[in-house]
This record gives sequence, structure tokens and C-alpha cells, in this order.
Amino acid sequence: MDQCIDDESIFDDAFNSNIKFEKCNGTEVKVNGKNIPEAIKTFTLIEDIPEILLRNIKKKKFTRPTPIQKYSIPIILSGRDLMATAQTGSGKTIAFVIPIIQKLIMDPVTLVKDRNHCEPQVIIIVPTRELAVQMKITISRLTRNTGIFSFACYGGIKVSYQKDQILRGCHILVATIGRLKSFVQHGVITFSSVRIFVLNEVDRMLYDDMKSEIDCILNHFSMPPVMNRQTIMMSATLPEKTRHLAQFYLKKDYLLLTVGIVSSTSMNIKQTFYMVNKFEKRNMLTEILKKDSAGTIVFVKRKWVVDYLVTYLNKNNIPSVPLHSNHLQHHRKIALNNFHDKKTNVLVATDLASRGLDFKCVNHVINFDMPPKIEEYVQRIGRKGKPATQAISTSFFDPNEDYSLVVPLIKTLALANQEIPDWLVKLRQDAKCNDANNVLDQFVGLDIRHVNNSNDDCEEW
Ligand SMILES: Nc1ncnc2c1ncn2[C@@H]1O[C@H](COP(=O)(O)OP(=O)(O)OP(=O)(O)O)[C@@H](O)[C@H]1O
Ligand SMILES: [Mg+2]
Repeated sequence: MDQCIDDESIFDDAFNSNIKFEKCNGTEVKVNGKNIPEAIKTFTLIEDIPEILLRNIKKKKFTRPTPIQKYSIPIILSGRDLMATAQTGSGKTIAFVIPIIQKLIMDPVTLVKDRNHCEPQVIIIVPTRELAVQMKITISRLTRNTGIFSFACYGGIKVSYQKDQILRGCHILVATIGRLKSFVQHGVITFSSVRIFVLNEVDRMLYDDMKSEIDCILNHFSMPPVMNRQTIMMSATLPEKTRHLAQFYLKKDYLLLTVGIVSSTSMNIKQTFYMVNKFEKRNMLTEILKKDSAGTIVFVKRKWVVDYLVTYLNKNNIPSVPLHSNHLQHHRKIALNNFHDKKTNVLVATDLASRGLDFKCVNHVINFDMPPKIEEYVQRIGRKGKPATQAISTSFFDPNEDYSLVVPLIKTLALANQEIPDWLVKLRQDAKCNDANNVLDQFVGLDIRHVNNSNDDCEEW
């Protein structure tokens, strides 16, 4: 059974803080699956919510839940597996963090730990170290005075320090995959007590390179099987391939929650494109940044180009910092903090910065190089700060490099009511683009279970 709710009522007030939903006319919230729990209307109406958790939510100045939160909180509390998608910046983090904390408070299980190992009860996997840190901060604030301990484990930090912290005991472990694997291999972490497993940015985590690592974790002998754990997956972009793969990690009665159009961009971003060749990009970038550079992220494909551009921009009196994976973690942290604190105007980064990071200071995203996939474009321009305000994105489109994006870009722009450049439409007619036509399929927010097998109720995973 599908429950399809034209949920305008939940957008009709502006939040105290920086999320604006009141103009999302006709935004559709869709839940696929059976026995769907009722959505909540306010945080106070969450069944059995502990007073302390409510107080922590209030301290964060979250006055009312966003649409994804209204639906996902009761779903997760009911114990169902969930695959969910909603636009960038729509509050997906606390959409799963709040019910997880509530479950740990209301149904406590003694934390298993000794001098050599610890058994976290919740594992949250994220693609980058920076996102792990951000998520840990959110969790720490919401678990204040609850007796629930959380920790972020990620590479680039002393293993001995992280090991000590983990052995002190942690209920909720936020982790990047490499460091987690290494702690598991050394027996510092085992999964025997895992109750909830979360894949944040699930489409990124199930990309070809990462999928085998995820499989390695989920196939670990100590990991409870799918029937004995709750599995949650979230992302702002959910291509069809991910929806296919993800089902194999979920119970067959999982719920699929989609808020708005799958993999769409916010209407509050003015998306501008320039057709350029690679030799024109640097001058064009400088020209744009000389007019106004405050709060700009420049996305670049190659790490050496990041460093080169930062040197060049600084020489031209445009204060910039680099972010890519070849830099020491300490330098990555300083660069990000300087940008966050507005000590520097421009962050030049690879796709390391494209996912999940909540940049309040960003009002302009520049794609110096286009990403290889449309999902990364959607994620990148979603890094803009305050959702309620108009932000801009500027993209340098090189037809020789980026032609495979023509069709999905046109679709993305049309969905967000953006102007589609004539040259992009012309390129679409180019024979080169024919192969990309089927990319359109990935925007259809279908429940894969219904596509593949209309009578899949008996199917066992
Ligand atoms: N109910 C709420 N009321 C007000 N602000 C909120 C609420 N929920 C979340 N926020 C804030 O919205 C911002 C974005 O939240 P979050 O990072 O969870 O978005 P997201 O959906 O995960 O985005 P992305 O897809 O980019 O990862 C954060 O600053 C967060 O504190
Ligand atoms: Mg997120």
C-alpha cells in the first residue's frame, strides 16, 4: 500500500531557525510500504518522548519538525527499516538521530565493554571525516545529560587516542569506513550489540568502490543479520541503482519515504551555466570572485588543481583555503574552520566537501569542473547555507568533458523552474547525448519492489 500525502499543511509556518518550507506548494510526501505509522505534527507529540530529549531539542532551537522528520521519527521508533530521501538541508540528520536516542533511553541495554573492546549499539557510517565530526557534534548536543555516549572514529587522527576513547564506552559510533574496519580487524570494536545500523549518504556509500567495504562490515561474523537489527538509509539523492542495491540490506517490509522529487535541487538556488573550454575557466573564476567572493565554495575535480587555484587566488588577493584528501587532517580541520568562521572567503575543494556538510556561511557554489554524476551536482549546490535565503550556483560546462550530464541537467533545471540555456538544449539534440537519455529514469521516485515484482510479498531476502 502506498500512502501519498499532499502535505502542504506542514509547510505553512516559517521556522525560528533557518529552514523555510512555507512556499513548498504541493510538495509531496510519499511512503511506500505496509502498515505505515502515523506522522507526528510536533516534537512534543512524539509518543513517550523523554523530557530530557525534548529539552535538548528545544536547546537546539528546533521548534517544529521538518517533513522528513515528521514521517521518519515514528517510522524508526516503530522499529521498521527505512530508506528515505529528501532535499539537501531538509534535516535528515536529526530525522534519524532523535528516534535513535529515544530508543536508547526508553529501552536501555547494558553497554558491553572491557579493557580490550567495546560493542556499540548504534553504528552510523558516513563518507567523510568532516561529516563524521559534524554528526558527532549534533549527537552530543542531543544526548546531553542522557547517559548515552557517542564517538566519531575516522582516519587521520591517532589510533591510540581513538582506541582509548572507544574503550571508555560508546553507545553510538559515527564512523568512516576505513578506520572502522581497522578497529574491527584489531578486535577493538565488535558488532554483537548492534541494534541499529545507519548508512548516511547511502548512494555514495554504495558506489562501486565503497560497496565492498560496506559488505565487509555487514558480513562480519559479529554483525547481527538483517532480521535482528534495524537498518536505516538516507540521502538527498537516490538513483535507481542505489534503490536496487539497498533493498538487499533491508528487511523486506522496509518503508521507502520520499519527500519531494527524488534527487531534485532546491528552488531557492539560482543555477547559472557558462559553456567554456578548460583554458577559459581560471580567468572566468577570478573575474567572478573579484566581484564578490564571500562565502563561496569552488568545486574542482583534481587535487593538484585545488592547490594550484588556492595559490593563484591568494596571489590575486582572494583569500582562499584548500580541502582535499591529500592534506593532513589537522590542515583539513583548520581550512574548514577558517571558512566556517568567515576568516577566509573561498573554499576550494574536491567532492570531499560535496556531501552532508552544513555550511551556514555559503551563498555561492561554483562548479569549476562539473562532477561526473548528476547526483554530485545536486549535492554540491545543496551546500548553500541558510535554506530560506536565495543562493546562487555557477557552473562551467565544458561540452568535451561534460556531455553525459546534458540530459539529466536539463531535467534537473526544469524541475527546479530554472532557466535552461539554449546551448544546453542544442547539445541535447547532438548525437553524443543519445546514450544519456536513459538517465532520466533515475528521477522517477519509484519503489523498486513495485517495479520488479508486483507480487513481491512472498519474496525472502
Ligand atoms: N526541525 C528543524 N528546525 C530547524 N532547523 C533544523 C531542523 N532540523 C534540522 N535543522 C537544521 O537544518 C540544517 C540542515 O540539517 P541536516 O544537515 O540534517 O540536513 P540534511 O537533510 O542532512 O542535508 P544534506 O542532504 O545536505 O546532508 C542544520 O543546520 C540543522 O541543524
Ligand atoms: Mg545529511
